[in-house]
Amino acid sequence: MGRYGVEGGHPLQGSVKVSGSKNASLALIAAATMAPGVTVLEGIPAIRDVEVMLAITRALGGEAQWVGAGRLSLRIPTGLNTTVPFAEGRQIRASSLFLGALVAAQGRAEVPLPGGCDLGPRPVDLHLKGLAALGAQVEVEHGLIKARAKSLEGARIYLDFPSVGATENLMMAACQARGQTVIENAAREPEVVDLANFLNAMGAHIRGAGTDVIKIDGPTVWRPATYSVIPDRIEAGTFLIMGAVCGGPLRVVNVISTHLQPVIAKLREAGATVEEGEGLLEVYREGPLAPVHVKTMPYPGFPTDLQSPMLVLLSQARGTSIVVETVFDNRFQVVQELQRMGANIRVEGSAAVVVGSTPLCGAEVQIPDLRAGAALTIAALLARGETILDRTGCLERGYENWWDKLTRLGARLRPLPE
Ligand code: UD1
Repeated sequence: MGRYGVEGGHPLQGSVKVSGSKNASLALIAAATMAPGVTVLEGIPAIRDVEVMLAITRALGGEAQWVGAGRLSLRIPTGLNTTVPFAEGRQIRASSLFLGALVAAQGRAEVPLPGGCDLGPRPVDLHLKGLAALGAQVEVEHGLIKARAKSLEGARIYLDFPSVGATENLMMAACQARGQTVIENAAREPEVVDLANFLNAMGAHIRGAGTDVIKIDGPTVWRPATYSVIPDRIEAGTFLIMGAVCGGPLRVVNVISTHLQPVIAKLREAGATVEEGEGLLEVYREGPLAPVHVKTMPYPGFPTDLQSPMLVLLSQARGTSIVVETVFDNRFQVVQELQRMGANIRVEGSAAVVVGSTPLCGAEVQIPDLRAGAALTIAALLARGETILDRTGCLERGYENWWDKLTRLGARLRPLPE
């Protein structure tokens, strides 16, 4: 699972280029399987989660190959297999996105109940209820989701929670439904908008993505497309937090700054300077960090995926900060590891109380999940002495060239034997 040693306390400065969005790329790959022919996706990060989606695409009968840096060619035949293999499907949560794509385009799908980071229970009930509303017959048995539909019919679907995955799955399925589908209380994340833009480029008729009401008129006559994915706002936010806590100046290139407003606002409130340029952000800090309160929310709220890195920043602020997690039930596993490094954080239900500032010291820590991995790396860069990061494979699931990017910014690190 990988181990790295990180020697903390060295200044981190320079420029870093953000990769294409992991979460958008995963959805685009699933969506691409609906259009027979050759689709080309650009800016796709070479990370393990993408490789898993490609392995699934190949198992379904598609051809997938890299044809340049970040350029992915997907050749989709008419008529795909409809079973997502268990070994790949259970590894990542995004494998559930094949459900909507396969039911829509092939009329049936068999997908293992998805895995992914352990952030507490991650049900797919909203995905399944929505598919049933579109006319699919859906059942779950022996750890498999089975869905069938001779034809899908447009419907009005209200999501109890603006789930990103459910919105994406249902948007894909609805493209093939006859008539209009309206998804209410839809997720507004930029990755949902990116998927809608891609589906429209492939012939779909989707309006309203980015608001909480999405309207889809079907059925779609598919055509393959060439499409560039948006930059990864979570990776960008991670580097901004890193720059703010380490001092910078750090220039983060290839960003859409509107996607990062909730993060920029909190960093400024905490005392960092964030300057916006054309497609880039620069962060630095001269004075001490101030405590701030953070509540994770669906977009455009503060992203849950940046909650763990934010805990590290707040551990260096002078005073007490409260971080409330409202999206996932179990997203404070990183706290135990941060405590090992000297952070004063206590978890009370869905809130973490962070008392700063406490100096961090190197320790051996185990990475519990992807975003916690980013947080622990930042903590290691700040800490006195060497930190051993265990289970770094977790990080490589979602951050492209993570160690190279850090080394270029001045980090001192080394891979360790397992
Ligand atoms: C996506 C992102 C993930 C991010 C999350 C929230 C991908 C591949 N992953 O995950 O990085 O942290 O959005 O921004 O895009 N829920 C239900 N029933 C459902 C579906 C979800 O109760 O059917 C709950 C989940 O348990 C969770 C909350 O809704 O508590 C949010 O989940 P969701 O928005 O669906 O996240 P994902 O799409 O899994």
